[in-house]
Amino acid sequence: MRPPQTDEEKDSTMKLGSRHITSMAMATAFICLLGAAFLRAQAAAEQKPLISDDVFKNVQVLKGIPVDQFMSIMGFFSASLGMSCEDCHSADDRNWSGFAADNTRKRLARRMITMMQTINKDNFGDRQLVTCYSCHRGGTPPRAVPDLAQLYGFPLPPDPNDVITQAPGQPPADQILDRYLQAIGGAQRLAAITSVIATGTNTGFGPEAADKRVVEIYAKAPGQRTVIVHTSNGDSTTTYDGRSGWVAAPLRPVDVLSLAGQELDGARLDAQMVFPGQIKQAIGRWRTGFPTTIDDKDVDVVQGATAAGTIVTLYFDKASGLLTRWVRLTDSPVGKIPTQTDYADYRDVSGVKIPHHVTMTWLDGRDNFDLTSVRTNAPVDAAKFSKPAPSKAPVARPAAR
Ligand code: HEC
Ligand code: HEC
Repeated sequence: MRPPQTDEEKDSTMKLGSRHITSMAMATAFICLLGAAFLRAQAAAEQKPLISDDVFKNVQVLKGIPVDQFMSIMGFFSASLGMSCEDCHSADDRNWSGFAADNTRKRLARRMITMMQTINKDNFGDRQLVTCYSCHRGGTPPRAVPDLAQLYGFPLPPDPNDVITQAPGQPPADQILDRYLQAIGGAQRLAAITSVIATGTNTGFGPEAADKRVVEIYAKAPGQRTVIVHTSNGDSTTTYDGRSGWVAAPLRPVDVLSLAGQELDGARLDAQMVFPGQIKQAIGRWRTGFPTTIDDKDVDVVQGATAAGTIVTLYFDKASGLLTRWVRLTDSPVGKIPTQTDYADYRDVSGVKIPHHVTMTWLDGRDNFDLTSVRTNAPVDAAKFSKPAPSKAPVARPAAR
């Protein structure tokens, strides 16, 4: 890989935003993202994976990690402390180079990373048992005195997203998975699905919720998938071709980012889950946890791991047997990062039940997909899964007369 050579060049790779920026201020103005900066960032992105210290200017602790993971960690910080990006970065959202500047809080956060790693190393055999979230619990500063109101108040059920072990008295995972496969159509019908083409709408979270965008999804068994969202800033394309994965989107630090490590593994799972008949092979080391509830409905909890070590938890509706949620946990130097997919509105397509409302939630963003047309087994052009081109700003339509 050729790292950016000059300061100006390093600077230029910075100005291009990120999927993970969802705070209102960040979402607003990205007018400076033009011309040569795109080309240079693309040249730098040609080889994979792009590493944090190649793209960013002032990385002192989180060095040598893929850019996608680096940005996920920023989401992890924000979620753990209940902060938005601006709380640690006095960055002007018109100028990405502002993120490199240090300030008191950012320096403290940097020290906290090292402190956390030392705690885990010295006390817990280097396992990531203490993270930013363990102390901060979504707020600052951490509380030191036990909370009587909480102690005697109505307890909130915890989000069960964690690593689990086989719970006593629960059925083997195989049984729950078989019931699910039967509920959505049975192994034979599932195996007959070779491609899925879907269209519909997509909405984001917060300020992006009002903006209904057209979405196209192409998938080919066993595991190729491309999702194109036509946003007002340009197309946002996520592709997994069966081996490599890319995200080409406007307002990112890198315009076509090659996915690496468990981020790539996550893209593979997202593609394979379009064809759930292979679920037992795609994920292994299965165990069943204690049942829990999602939206007041009882669900069975089953967890497994991929060969690359990504932990996957699946929640099956006890009444219908259908998959209502699955969560993948991606390793990072500061702790595991959850990405959740929720399924609803299952409808019958060629004898197979396919969810038509899909919500993806990660630490600093959410995407809703409402599918209006889902076709199976139509031919899909192989070019749909090739490396996407950089996103272009949409051409303004001529004003109606
Ligand atoms: C709790 C504080 C905190 C929050 C919240 C936070 N960051 Fe950071 N950010 C840091 C620290 C600390 C570093 C430096 C890491 C290092 O030196 O290894 C950093 C570095 C960065 C860099 C690299 C800048 C450069 O060129 O060196 C970018 C880009 C960045 N953050 C973006 C974001 C975005 C986007 C968000 C919101 C999703 C965010 N950060 C939220 C603390 C934070
Ligand atoms: C072992 C507990 C613990 C862990 C783990 C921890 N923190 Fe902290 N953090 C604290 C305490 C305690 C304070 C308050 C310090 C003070 O007030 O002087 C604090 C303060 C902060 C502040 C300053 C908040 C403010 O109001 O300005 C930031 C930013 C911060 N932590 C970031 C992080 C990040 C990022 C991580 C994970 C890499 C992390 N912390 C992990 C205990 C922790």
